Amino acid sequence: MTPNVSGKAYDLFGFGIAAVDDLIEVPRFPHAGTKVEILGRRRQGGGLCATALVAAARLGVKCMYGGFLGCNELSDFTRTVLRNEGIDFLEEVPYPDAEPFHSVILVDHATGERTILYSREKVVAPWARDIRADLIKNSRALFVDHFAPDGTVQACKIARRFGIPVVADIENANEAGVREVIALADHLIVPIRLAIELTGANDIESVVFALSQQRACTAVTDGARGCWYIEGGKDVRVKHQPAFTVEVVDTTGCGDVFHGAYAAALLSGSAIPAAIRFAGAAAAIKATQPGGQQGIPDRATVEMFLRDQ
Ligand SMILES: Nc1ncnc2c1ncn2[C@@H]1O[C@H](COP(=O)(O)OP(=O)(O)O)[C@@H](O)[C@H]1O
Ligand SMILES: [Mg+2]
Repeated sequence: MTPNVSGKAYDLFGFGIAAVDDLIEVPRFPHAGTKVEILGRRRQGGGLCATALVAAARLGVKCMYGGFLGCNELSDFTRTVLRNEGIDFLEEVPYPDAEPFHSVILVDHATGERTILYSREKVVAPWARDIRADLIKNSRALFVDHFAPDGTVQACKIARRFGIPVVADIENANEAGVREVIALADHLIVPIRLAIELTGANDIESVVFALSQQRACTAVTDGARGCWYIEGGKDVRVKHQPAFTVEVVDTTGCGDVFHGAYAAALLSGSAIPAAIRFAGAAAAIKATQPGGQQGIPDRATVEMFLRDQ
């Protein structure tokens, strides 16, 4: 990581989803109306934004989480996850009832398949007026996802006004305002499913091209097939970064880690192709361990992995 010579408090300000995942291991997926013994339960941190920040933090980036947490057990769990990674969060609690997203994930031992039940009943979606311009201005980059587009659009506008690059992960474009977030992103990285839904194109090159606009980078990820991307303003050729071959244990959070590692590489001055390659390596290493955050590597591990390729 290049030292932060900007005088800013943070390298990366993250605004978006934090989640608490309760993994429940069962011998087989239950049939309706039957009893099944639980073999194990674990609580883990998750969520697009929080996981991207954990990845960036392990790679040496000073991060701030700008979402709202409240006064309750789930919020405290999320604070502990962030604190353990050296990530700052808002000290004030304007919405005491606010909770992170909460998922119960049934892990079927027979097949390894995961079934996710989630709730967002108590998640507080910040409004434009809630956005802390002072903190965004004091950061070198902004990370956003599709959560709370009203507040997110405002955050992106502030960042752009101050020349702060916006890195965006969008998995769902149903809510009004998400398309404006997409338009404001300087570095848009989305999974293929959403890219197809947004563009209606069907071959990968047309999909990336249709999404690209004049932004610094538009990338579409497709799991074990890797990532296709365009560098805006440089050339209009779609490039492909294949995924790295690893012994895959669990791909939960690969996309989130990819985003956090991409941001970390950008912040240390990497050119876009190198940042995409670095992100692919970090995501592949993560996939070799169970859970969304446990296997996220540090910078030395990613660099060694890349040297060995
Ligand atoms: N099975 C895998 N093996 C190696 N790398 C992977 C694998 N799955 C995902 N990745 C890496 O993570 C990136 C994002 O994964 P993807 O599944 O497309 O996103 P999401 O998790 O958001 O759905 C991929 O482009 C690839 O670099
Ligand atoms: Mg994703």
